[in-house]
Amino acid sequence: MAGLIPPDKLEQIRSASDIVDVIGSYLPLKRAGGNFVALCPFHKEKSPSFNVNPQRQIFHCFGCHKGGDVFTFVREYESLPFMDAVRRLAERAKIPLEFENDPSQGRSRQLKDQLLHLHEQITQRWQNCLANEAAGHAARDYLAQRGVPPEAVQLFRLGAAPEVWDDTVNWAKSKGHDLALVEQAGLILRKEGGDHHYDRFRGRLMFPICDEQGRVIGFSGRVLSADQKTAKYVNSPETPIFTKGKVFFGLDKSKRALLDAQTAIVCEGQLDLIACFMADVKNIVAPQGTALTADHARILKRYVEEVVLCFDADTAGQNATVRSLDSLLAAGLAVRVAVVPAPHDPDSFIKAAGGPAFREVIARAEGFFDYFLNRLVVTNDLGTDRGRLGVLHAMAEAVHKTGNGVLIDTYAQKTALRLAVSPESVRLEFRKFARTKPSAPAADEPPPESDYDLPVPEVEAEVWTTPSEPEIWLLKVVFAHEDTLEWLVAHLDLSWIAHAGVRHILDLRLNRHRENTWRGVGALLEDIESEPARRLITELTTHPRPIPNPTQQASLITLRLRNQFFDRRKSALLQQTTDPALDDTARHALLHQMEAVRQAKLQPLTPLPGIEDEPF
Ligand code: CTP
Ligand code: MN
Repeated sequence: MAGLIPPDKLEQIRSASDIVDVIGSYLPLKRAGGNFVALCPFHKEKSPSFNVNPQRQIFHCFGCHKGGDVFTFVREYESLPFMDAVRRLAERAKIPLEFENDPSQGRSRQLKDQLLHLHEQITQRWQNCLANEAAGHAARDYLAQRGVPPEAVQLFRLGAAPEVWDDTVNWAKSKGHDLALVEQAGLILRKEGGDHHYDRFRGRLMFPICDEQGRVIGFSGRVLSADQKTAKYVNSPETPIFTKGKVFFGLDKSKRALLDAQTAIVCEGQLDLIACFMADVKNIVAPQGTALTADHARILKRYVEEVVLCFDADTAGQNATVRSLDSLLAAGLAVRVAVVPAPHDPDSFIKAAGGPAFREVIARAEGFFDYFLNRLVVTNDLGTDRGRLGVLHAMAEAVHKTGNGVLIDTYAQKTALRLAVSPESVRLEFRKFARTKPSAPAADEPPPESDYDLPVPEVEAEVWTTPSEPEIWLLKVVFAHEDTLEWLVAHLDLSWIAHAGVRHILDLRLNRHRENTWRGVGALLEDIESEPARRLITELTTHPRPIPNPTQQASLITLRLRNQFFDRRKSALLQQTTDPALDDTARHALLHQMEAVRQAKLQPLTPLPGIEDEPF
C-alpha cells in the first residue's frame, strides 16, 4: 500500500504528523478522557462518535466504523490517493521526499511546478483584466447579459483575455517568463517554421480549470462575439499538468458536497456548473463537453456511489449520456439520468425556471435503463420490425453490461411491455444475446456478428464476513496486551484461524513481534489493504480495555480456535466419505484421518505454568 515510499521515510512523516494536530486542523476536537472526540466528518450525526486516540495515533468512528491512522484520515477526508496524502503530510511537516529526487523525477516535478506557477500568474492577469481593464469590457458585458453574478466570477476566478494577438506574449516577456515554457503551457503558439509567437486565447471569457486541490492547470475560453468564425470554446492542449479526460471542471469546489450527497450530478459545461452552484446545487462536476471517460468514472467513484447525468437536451448531449454508461458501470457506480426539457441545458433551464425547478428535475431522474428504453422507443420506429429489433438489441446489449440477472430480467419485462410482446419472447432474445457475448465463446459456435465487445463490470474483490467471537477476542487480547505475543508466537498455528482477515492481521502482528519490528497500530494499518480489516483494528484499539489474565485468556481462546479447526476438518472429511464414487481403500483412509483428528483434539495445548488446561 505504501507504494514507492521507503518505510523509514513513512515513519518519519508519521512521527512528525501528530494525529491530534492534523485532524484538529480540519475539525474541532474536544478532549474526552484520554481521547479526543468530534462529530464524524464521514457520516451525518448529532452526537460525536468520532474518536482520536493520541497515544496510539489512530482515529475511529463508532458510528460509521471508519478508522485508521493519520495517512488514512487525510486520504479519506481529502479523497486523495494514498501517495498524495503522504506527500501532503510531508509538505506540512517540511520533510523532503528524497526518493522523488532522482534526476528525471526531479526535473519533471520542477517543470510541473513552473507550469503551475505560470497558470496561477496568468489567472491573476486575466482576472485583473476582467475586473479593471478596458480590454475586459466586452467580457463584463457578456457576463452581465448571461446573468453570471459577481460572486460566481470571484469564486470561479473568471477572467478576460484581450482581443489581440500578442497580449499574453507581451505579458510573459514583461514578467520575464521563458516563452518556451509559456508555449509548453499551451498559452501561446509558435508560427510554423518561425520564431514568432502569438496568443492562443484571444477575446475570450476565461474559465480556469483546476485540479482537485484547486490549483489552476488549464483553461477553457469562450468567444464573446456571436460570430461563428471561430470555435465557441478554445481549450488548453494536453500539457504535463493537464489531461482533459482526467479532469472535471468544478471538482475542487464540489468535492465536500459530493461526499455529503454521495451523488454527483454531471453536467456538460462550465456555465451549467456555475449556474447550478449559484442555485445552491453544489454536488456537481463537468467533464467539459465530452462523454465520461474511464478515468472520470474512477475519480467520481472516490467520492460517490451514484451519478446523475444531466447533459444538454440536444442529440449531442443525449448521445454523450449513452456513451458514458460503460465507464460508469465499470467503475461500479449507479447511474440515473435527468433531462431538462428541450431545448435547454442546465444553465438556461435554471435561468428560465429557477433553482427549485432544477432540483425537481434532478430528484425525478430515472434509472439509466428506464431512460434508455424511453429513448429507444422514441428514436426507433416501432411500427417496423427493424425498429422493434433495434430496441430489443440495444436494450439487450445495455443491460447485459451490468452482468446482473435481476436487472436483465426486469428490463426484459419492461421492454416486452413497450414492444407489446410476451416477456418470454424478450427473455429468450436477451438470452440469445448473452450467448453471443465473446466472454465465453464455445469453440463450435460461430463468432458473434455484432460489436459486443463490452467491458465486464468489476467484481467485488473480497467478501467480508464478521469474524467469530473467539477470533475477535483474540484480537482484543493481542492489541491490549503485548505480553501475550510471546506465548502466541510459540503456540498459535495460524491455520486454525478461519477468518482470512483476522488471520492476516494476526500474521502481521505476530511477525512484527518475532522480528522485533513493531512500530504501532498506524504502521500496521499501512500493510492492510482491506478496508473492513482496517476498521476492525481501529475499532478494537481506540478504547482498549484491559483484559484480566490476558495470557490465560489467550491460551483458552487458542485452544478453542484449534478445536473448532479440528471440528471443521472432521466435517470436511465426513463429507468426503459420502461420495458414492469412493472405493473402499479411499474411504478407509478418510476414516483413518478422522480418527487422527479426533485424537489430536484430545491433546492439550502445551500448558502455561500454573494454568489448568480445561477442555471446552
Ligand atoms: N466545449 C468545448 N469545445 C467546444 C464546444 C464545447 O470544449 N467547441 C465544451 C465546453 O466545456 C462547454 C461544453 O462543452 O462548456 C458544453 O458545450 P455547449 O453546450 O456548446 O456550451 P455551453 O456550456 O452550454 O455554453 P453556452 O451556454 O455558452 O453556449
Ligand atoms: Mn450547453
